[in-house]
Amino acid sequence: MAQFTEQPVAALDIPGLETELSSQSPQKILERAFSLFDNISISFSGAEDVVLIDMAHKLKREIQVFSLDTGRLHAETYQFIDRVRKHYGISIEVMCPDTAQVEALVTAKGLFSFYEDGHKECCDIRKVAPLRRKLSTLDAWVTGQRQDQNPATRGNVPVVQVDTAFSVGDRSLVKFNPLSYWTSADVWMYIRTYDVPYNSLHERGFVSIGCEPCTRPVLPNQHEREGRWWWEDAGKKECGLHVINQPQST
Ligand code: ADX
Ligand code: SF4
Repeated sequence: MAQFTEQPVAALDIPGLETELSSQSPQKILERAFSLFDNISISFSGAEDVVLIDMAHKLKREIQVFSLDTGRLHAETYQFIDRVRKHYGISIEVMCPDTAQVEALVTAKGLFSFYEDGHKECCDIRKVAPLRRKLSTLDAWVTGQRQDQNPATRGNVPVVQVDTAFSVGDRSLVKFNPLSYWTSADVWMYIRTYDVPYNSLHERGFVSIGCEPCTRPVLPNQHEREGRWWWEDAGKKECGLHVINQPQST
């Protein structure tokens, strides 16, 4: 049973916190996040997230980390998740989708329906529902989103925000994005400097990595997210984990 913090989020001045933290380093942002919340978890899938795990590991030994296993990840990603688990000596909570929902979808529409009618239905079942289940147990979560990953949907991602999409009832969920102002170059400089583990797919031209059927390598000078859901418009390249970034959501 999750232990929710005593401190109501309403008591936190989120705009004030954003002003305080937006000019600070990701390490300082994480430190502040951990000082405010005990029941906080890092959502882990890619290079940015291991940077956060590395920083958190250096700050505080007891960190919570979860990963959404859609059942469609690359073999290399599964190996990477396990390498990170062993490297830092941490538990990684692996969230799986609802079996009945996955069975109903693939029985009705096959295993590649997203190429025909878009990724939303599959992502809702395989990613968003398990995320919602996990977030309902937390006071705050930490993501590796960066503003320059997708100017159309992430260009205004703050360092801290109330996650209105996943708050339950009157309990507000807080979302920290400590790498919001970092670039991909900053992330990879950190990885090389501190010898941080990374997904071996990066050695084969993959930059932003999601599920295997929905991710492909990018060519030189292509934007990093062009390899994600490449058959869809740039403005739709969000799978619902960060739905508050979408202009239509409030
Ligand atoms: S996505 O929405 O397009 O899939 P992206 O791959 O850019 O997201 O990752 C942005 C952040 O979302 C990551 O830094 C991580 O915090 C979170 N995230 C994405 N995919 C997962 C996953 N499978 N498990 C846990 N967190 C994830
Ligand atoms: Fe399904 Fe593709 Fe979304 Fe993965 S990224 S959950 S395979 S639509």
